[in-house]
Amino acid sequence: MQNNTQQNLFDEVNQLRREKNAVILAHNYQVPEIQDIADFVGDSLELSRQAAKTDAEVIVFCGVHFMAETASIISPGKTVLIPDLEAGCSLADSITADQLRQWKAQHPDAVVVSYINTTAEVKAETDYCCTSSNAVGIVNSIPEDKEILFLPDKFLGAYVEMVTGRDLNIWQGACHVHENIGELNLAEKQKEHPDAEMLIHPECGCSTSCMMKSAMYFDCKDGHVYSTSGMLNRAKESDAEKFVVATETGIIYRMEKENPGKQFFAANEDSVCDYMKMITLENLRDALKYDQYEVKVPEELAQKALLPIERMLQVS
Ligand code: 13P
Ligand code: SF4
Repeated sequence: MQNNTQQNLFDEVNQLRREKNAVILAHNYQVPEIQDIADFVGDSLELSRQAAKTDAEVIVFCGVHFMAETASIISPGKTVLIPDLEAGCSLADSITADQLRQWKAQHPDAVVVSYINTTAEVKAETDYCCTSSNAVGIVNSIPEDKEILFLPDKFLGAYVEMVTGRDLNIWQGACHVHENIGELNLAEKQKEHPDAEMLIHPECGCSTSCMMKSAMYFDCKDGHVYSTSGMLNRAKESDAEKFVVATETGIIYRMEKENPGKQFFAANEDSVCDYMKMITLENLRDALKYDQYEVKVPEELAQKALLPIERMLQVS
């Protein structure tokens, strides 16, 4: 039940959104009220596609900075706003463009595949972007004799290596939320809910241990590892009634909303991304009211960073 303050904020946001011809895009980890008011809620790939095709003049990105930057790169003619400029990403921070240039110098013939959780500067040094939902397809699209530098997430890299059978050079970055979802969390939850299906994001620490210990838990090659929207789709399709969810806990709101009667348990209740939670109804309202905070990637950089994103969108 919404209280009066929240209803007033909803009304203000709705009015401003109409006046400004704005679209509100929200990631699956956003707080419930942001998910409820957004025009579209999705994973990184879906949000990039929405940013590419929207007719709105203004895109308000309820997510983290690299997502707003990606929207600005894809839609340079639009105004892209993020309600809090401090909404960053520890994974995107785990590699700089200088570090990538040095790595490339050591592997001059390699193809660079970067997760979308990277800065525009890193994307500008990249051949292909990927997200958690298409990383396997992107790597499979690269000729087998090509050396690949995969960055920055070591757990996603290990997962892609296992599924594709390719030998990748993997940057040793990680997301501070997902790397703390470990094998013990899964073991404990599996004991508590033996009939639950496991849904695991490939950024998780446990995605690697589950691959190594597949005999003990389950076989990751047979599903279980999904992007956030992949998890939502699986939760709908599956006959299971209980699920253990190994990712940021914000996704559980949408899972419960879309699947009445099914139960969802966080693999680790502490898996909260403070960056994602910086977006609130108040700062969303202010973003629309005061046109703040604009995320604009300089033209020359945006042109370079667009190529790997376009390649990704063509392949997947
Ligand atoms: P996806 O929603 O694309 O699975 O990515 C999760 C993530 O890292 C968001 O920060
Ligand atoms: Fe970045 Fe991790 Fe937060 Fe996603 S959950 S935005 S990868 S810090």
